[in-house]
Formats: sequence, C-alpha cells, structure tokens
Amino acid sequence: MSGRERQAAVYLAGATGRRARVPFDAEHLEDRARQVMSAEAFAYVAGGAGAEETMRANRRAFERLSIVPRMLRDVSQRDTSLELFGRRLPSPFLLAPIGVLELAHRDADVAAARAAAPVGLPTIFSSQASRPMEEVAAAMGEAPRWFQLYWSTDDELVKSFVGRAEQCGCEAIVITLDTTLLGWRARDLGLGYLPFLRGRGIAQYVSDPVFQRLVREHVQTASAARPTLGAVRTLLELRRNIRGLDPRAAVQVFTEIYSRPSLRWDDLVRIRDLTPLPVVLKGILHPDDARRAVEAGFDGIVVSNHGGRQLDGTIPTLDALPPIVEAVAGRVPVLLDSGVRTGSDAFKALALGAMAVLVGRPYVYGLAIGGETGAREVLENFVADFDLALGLAGCTSLADVREATLAHGEWPSTAPSS
Ligand SMILES: Cc1cc2nc3c(=O)[nH]c(=O)nc-3n(C[C@H](O)[C@H](O)[C@H](O)COP(=O)(O)O)c2cc1C
Repeated sequence: MSGRERQAAVYLAGATGRRARVPFDAEHLEDRARQVMSAEAFAYVAGGAGAEETMRANRRAFERLSIVPRMLRDVSQRDTSLELFGRRLPSPFLLAPIGVLELAHRDADVAAARAAAPVGLPTIFSSQASRPMEEVAAAMGEAPRWFQLYWSTDDELVKSFVGRAEQCGCEAIVITLDTTLLGWRARDLGLGYLPFLRGRGIAQYVSDPVFQRLVREHVQTASAARPTLGAVRTLLELRRNIRGLDPRAAVQVFTEIYSRPSLRWDDLVRIRDLTPLPVVLKGILHPDDARRAVEAGFDGIVVSNHGGRQLDGTIPTLDALPPIVEAVAGRVPVLLDSGVRTGSDAFKALALGAMAVLVGRPYVYGLAIGGETGAREVLENFVADFDLALGLAGCTSLADVREATLAHGEWPSTAPSS
C-alpha cells in the first residue's frame, strides 16, 4: 500500500467517525502503550541502560540531521523496494528481534510475525522470544524470517538453535554481539524485575531438546532447597510459564548458559561450520569491527546500540554509521537500528548508506495497544510515512535516497551530502 493509499484509508475512516486506535507519532504511541501495560512490562520495554543517555542520543542524532528536499522531479511513481540476501523486499524495513513480547500481548511473537507478514517486513525471531520459533514459523505462511542468536556458553545449544532456525525456514542468522552481559537497567533494577527469572522470554530454550537435557541433568545433581515464603509467589508464576520441565531448574540452567561474556572473533567464525545461511553481526559501532567482520567473511552488519539498553553513553547509531559504511565499502549490506521512529529517520539512515533499518520499540507498543492489528498498523504507518518522505524529498527510488542531500548544522557550508 502506498503512502497516499494509507493516508486515504485513515482519512476516509475518520470521515465516517472511526479514528485509528494506534497513534501516529512515537510519543503518543509510547504514552498509550504505557496506559495498557503493567509497570514492570512497560519499564522493561521502554527503559534503557544507566541514565538513558544513549537512548536520548539516538534520537538527538536523527534530530540534528536534516533532509534538503529537491523540487519538480516527478515523484508520481515511487519504488521503495530493495534486494537483500537474494530476496526482494517491498520496503527497507525489518522487524527488530525483541524478546519477551508476551509483556506486550499474550499472542506475543505470533502476533508480531503475523502483523509483519502482509506488510512484507521480514521478522527476526529473538533468542529470547516468548513463543518457540516453530510455532511462529507455522503461523506466518511464507513470509520471510531470520533468526537472532545470543551465543550461549553451551555450544550444543547454539548448534541446536541454528539447526532449528534452518528448519523453520530462516533466511539469515543474526548474531547479537552487544549482550554478552546484561546492561545496567535502572528501571528494571528499581522494580527488581527481570522477566527471564519469572520464566518469561525463554521459550526457545524450554522447547529445545539440548536445553531440556541440560535441565534434567541439573535436576539429578542439584539439592532441592526449600523455597522461602517470599519466593513461593514467584515459583507459582514460574509453574504457570514453564510446562513440562522443573521450572526452577530451567531458570537456573538458563541463567548459567544464556550468554557468553568470553566470546571472541575466533569463537564466532565457527558459525560457518554450523550453517550455510548468511550471517549478520548486530551491535557493531566501530569501523574497525565492521572491517574485521567483513574480512572474517560475515555477510552483513547491523549498526546498533540495542536501543540504548546495553552500554549507556554509547555513540548514537546514526553517528556511527558513516565511518562504518566507508569501512565496509559496499562489500556487505549495512543495516541500522536504535531510535528509528519515522519515515524521515529511515530516509536519513539510508541517505547515509544503510541498506535498511530495523523497527524496534514502536511495534511492541502497537502490539500492546491492539495486538496483531495494532502492530500491523504501526508497520503500515512506517512504510507509508517513508514512501511519502521519499517523494517529498524529490526521490523515486532508494538509489535516489543514497544521493540525497543532508544538512548537519550550518547549511550549505558544513553540510555533508549523503
Ligand atoms: C524489550 C526489548 C527486548 C529486546 N530484545 C532483544 C533480543 O532478544 N535480541 C536482540 O538482538 N535485540 C533485542 N532488543 C534490541 C532490538 O533488537 C533493537 O536493537 C532495539 O530495539 C532498537 O532500538 P529502538 O527500539 O529504540 O528503535 C530488544 C529491545 C527491546 C526494546
């Protein structure tokens, strides 16, 4: 659906007294989601690390950069499509991998993937999903999907996850590099709330045969300590969330193996023995790491600071992008996320050399507000907004966007052009 068609649908519905439930701007979207989510759920999704400086910096970087549109270029026909890893996509957006979507809506990952499918956005299944990838894959027809991997301390589990992803029809593996330790998240710490310890967001694990074996082994060796009275409520919650396995043992094993702080380049290249799929590295911010990724044979990069959830005081992704694009020199696709909130934001990232962007928190808020429909509306709005931004800037294709003029501060003397 083009931007004009989406606009027309919204305005026509408005003329018959039907207003969209999902707000069109990021601020109201987050506000509305806050109203329908529990305090813990909202804090987990909306929060960032430390003083949330990275989160604000991500937005400031987009706000500092301006598009300098060109006029009278016949923008009646626009093409926002691109080719990524051999697949034609209708627009340069993907769904960022987001864990614990059950905090937003009970249909969680199934609803998100079903929302993305008709809009043509690839879904990236999270390692920390609320539903096993097999269930989500079965619910989304032929729609494109990738799998995001947190490299576990258990290599057998890594192998199993990657094998399952292949079986589920995933077309790429995304390895997230920035979460070998969990960031210092003030909002969650204040509430004493980490969903995984309540048995949430560990569906890929509890459904996995290797993980199940590890839990059984753990049960055989662990002494059964009696829970304190205060822990009984959590235990009941765990029993509700984890079926078919000893829930305490499952959480214990999960916390021991979920991520590997010792991870190095040498470990990572072993992924090549596990899969022929393209492998994309997510969380790269330094051009030297980008160069190394390409030289080590990886197939793509996501410039990401995890939406400001990991290291506070990090460089915003839009500022990190140009030197990375230069270092990569077109050898592999460079994607970007963290703070993308409008079509113009996506335009700016593409003008600086990103091939596509990942939509993160906004779709989770749509999911919280209106389930699958709410998430779909958010994605349709992104695509429509981008299509109109493209035309209004005087572009008719993504190739034009890469040639677009951007202004940074004083114009024209200091303006970088694309
Ligand atoms: C609640 C939440 C959970 C996330 N879970 C994951 C995850 O499991 N794996 C991952 O690679 N990134 C995860 N991310 C990071 C996103 O993939 C993405 O990098 C980030 O949301 C981009 O920032 P933005 O949402 O502010 O645009 C998560 C982000 C949020 C908000």
